[in-house]
Amino acid sequence: MEILHFEHNEQAAQIIASFYDTPPLAYIHSFGCQQNVNDGEKIKGVLADVGFGLCDAPEQADLILFNTCAVREHAEQRVFGNVGALKSLKEKKPRLIIGLCGCMAQQPTVVEKLRQSYPFVDLVFGVNAIDTLPQLLAQKLTGGKKRLLQTPVERADIVEEIPIRRDSDFRAWLPIMYGCDNFCTYCIVPYVRGRERSRRPEDILAEFCQLVDAGYKEITLLGQNVNSYGKGLEPRVDFADLLEMLCRVPGDYHLRFMTSHPKDASRKLIDVIAAEERICNHLHLPVQSGSDRILKEMNRHYTVQQYLELIDYAKAKIPDVTFSSDIIVGFPGETEEDFAATLELIRKVQYMQLFTFIYSKRTGTKAALMPDPVTHKEKTERMARLLAVQEKIAHAETAALVGGTQRVLVEGHSRSPGTLAGRLTNNLVVEFAGDEALIGQYARVHFTSSKGTILKGELV
Ligand code: SAH
Ligand code: SF4
Ligand code: F3S
Repeated sequence: MEILHFEHNEQAAQIIASFYDTPPLAYIHSFGCQQNVNDGEKIKGVLADVGFGLCDAPEQADLILFNTCAVREHAEQRVFGNVGALKSLKEKKPRLIIGLCGCMAQQPTVVEKLRQSYPFVDLVFGVNAIDTLPQLLAQKLTGGKKRLLQTPVERADIVEEIPIRRDSDFRAWLPIMYGCDNFCTYCIVPYVRGRERSRRPEDILAEFCQLVDAGYKEITLLGQNVNSYGKGLEPRVDFADLLEMLCRVPGDYHLRFMTSHPKDASRKLIDVIAAEERICNHLHLPVQSGSDRILKEMNRHYTVQQYLELIDYAKAKIPDVTFSSDIIVGFPGETEEDFAATLELIRKVQYMQLFTFIYSKRTGTKAALMPDPVTHKEKTERMARLLAVQEKIAHAETAALVGGTQRVLVEGHSRSPGTLAGRLTNNLVVEFAGDEALIGQYARVHFTSSKGTILKGELV
């Protein structure tokens, strides 16, 4: 793997400037996970570097980019719907450039569909090509009607120091690795994001220090499987070492990370979380299913018992630790008995939060070839049952916090008029009355009541 550095492209900037009378505007919409949102922030940074301004409405834009997600069919349909809706805008404004990037852009079938049925899409580029965007735009502008719709090829190197325009000035995403080597049988991510590559610890540390210096309060380390961080690095460092190193940086901030794969989450990691004040006492530990048979079919490499041992170890070591998870309902061949095992697991762990998905078939993955006799209606019913179980647990877990006081990060205005929303270390949200000058700051809040999974509180 090679480490490259981003270079400002003067020539592309001049070409872009020569095509517009006033600085052009770009509208960027990111549809996917945190990694995808972080890519969107880099796209905005690269565009600003070559003279683009940003706008919030597609109608004002000279360039519209959809930064897409391919993880479930629904995500893809949403993107095609949004792209389709631009047809009339392009007719009114022929000079408008419409592009698609992100995980869908990595798929040959998607590119073919755009080629055939979406003649008004001008540009496609992949997840590892953000640094080449200035050249692509220059090429597009000077190439007349020519469309640039190649399927991106996998690139193994990491480009450091790509300019970035962050969406928030107090919460930041910090990727520590790219790609995934796990090949869970349902998942498209390894195919669209390529092989696992870890950033060098010194590059991560440098970006981390910049963030702390700039006053960022919450820094979330990102990777599809942060626990396998460090593979291939010399000298060898693991994720727990990295966390310890980052926590030595002085400042007023806290750390989160996602996602942890249970097969690689070590006791060493849990010990570090327990020891370091700055790391949130919350673990997002996606289990996917509570049936050993299904976990094996999913290629997850852990059993329910191993998972529960890890949870018990964390509960014993980290005071007030909370858990969240991802669950797939209706994986091919999931029986009523397998599903009941998932419900049992949920009851045992008592998750604060669950992200639940009905299995979605992804062409090219192994699970797409497995027999899937359970009807969608049955899967939907299972999902409703699961949500009912989880709702009770989450409401009870939330209510149990009432009467306590914690430091929260004030994230913004809440949905109830006149109140603010703050996030606890366990990811729950508390609503309380306060001055908006507190947004982006820490505040101590006493929890007075709860409604569902929302706490109500007052400033101390
Ligand atoms: N790397 C992370 C997250 C990957 S995608 C991890 O391993 O946890 C986020 C979640 O989407 C997954 O955890 C899984 O629950 C869900 N997911 C992925 N592919 C899916 C599919 N084909 N159908 C339904 N849910 C899926
Ligand atoms: Fe997908 Fe599994 Fe990789 Fe997560 S660990 S991105 S679920 S293949
Ligand atoms: Fe989606 Fe790509 Fe993230 S498929 S979940 S945007 S890695």
